[in-house]
Amino acid sequence: MSLAAARARFEAELADRPAWLREHTERVIDGAVRLAQIHELDPERCAAAAAGHDIFRHLKAKELLERSRNASVPIGEAELDAPIILHGPLAAVHAEFALGVDDADLLDTIRHHTTAHPDMSAEGLAVFLADKIDPQKVARDPGLESVAAAAQHDLAAAAALFLERRMIAQLAGGALLHPLAVAARNTFRQRGAQS
Ligand SMILES: [Fe+2]
Ligand SMILES: [Fe+2]
Repeated sequence: MSLAAARARFEAELADRPAWLREHTERVIDGAVRLAQIHELDPERCAAAAAGHDIFRHLKAKELLERSRNASVPIGEAELDAPIILHGPLAAVHAEFALGVDDADLLDTIRHHTTAHPDMSAEGLAVFLADKIDPQKVARDPGLESVAAAAQHDLAAAAALFLERRMIAQLAGGALLHPLAVAARNTFRQRGAQS
């Protein structure tokens, strides 16, 4: 399936989603394409993954857990602590098995857009960051401006910065840290330091 076809399937899926979710998705597509242009990545791949990243973001914890169990999505301690994490993995499974999306990198970008992943592609990083620096999120949390600024120059460094910020808040609130987020932060921090 082409990237354009995958994007079209995600957009059809989004048609009955709440307006806030469709509008957020539009902003993430725009932001991811802009980062792709700056960093010379594939804008079509970024747009397709951004279109599909949040197709299950509207679901509540109970339904995410139920659907994830039915779809054999791995549920670890961090997912039980914060079931919202499951909307990415669940969307990736739905995209692959119900929508017929067969691009492994696109599916992984969707799967890991909340936690990040140490092996994320550059396009995956662009989508991850475009989601985190959605202008509405930055307006609500001006501390994200530093992440948005870093993303213009170095995607790995910006992702490390975002993950560190979120971990500090999670630690302060007694939440669990997701093992993939910790591994991703370590990888991105080292990569950022080398560039
Ligand atoms: Fe999301
Ligand atoms: Fe999102």
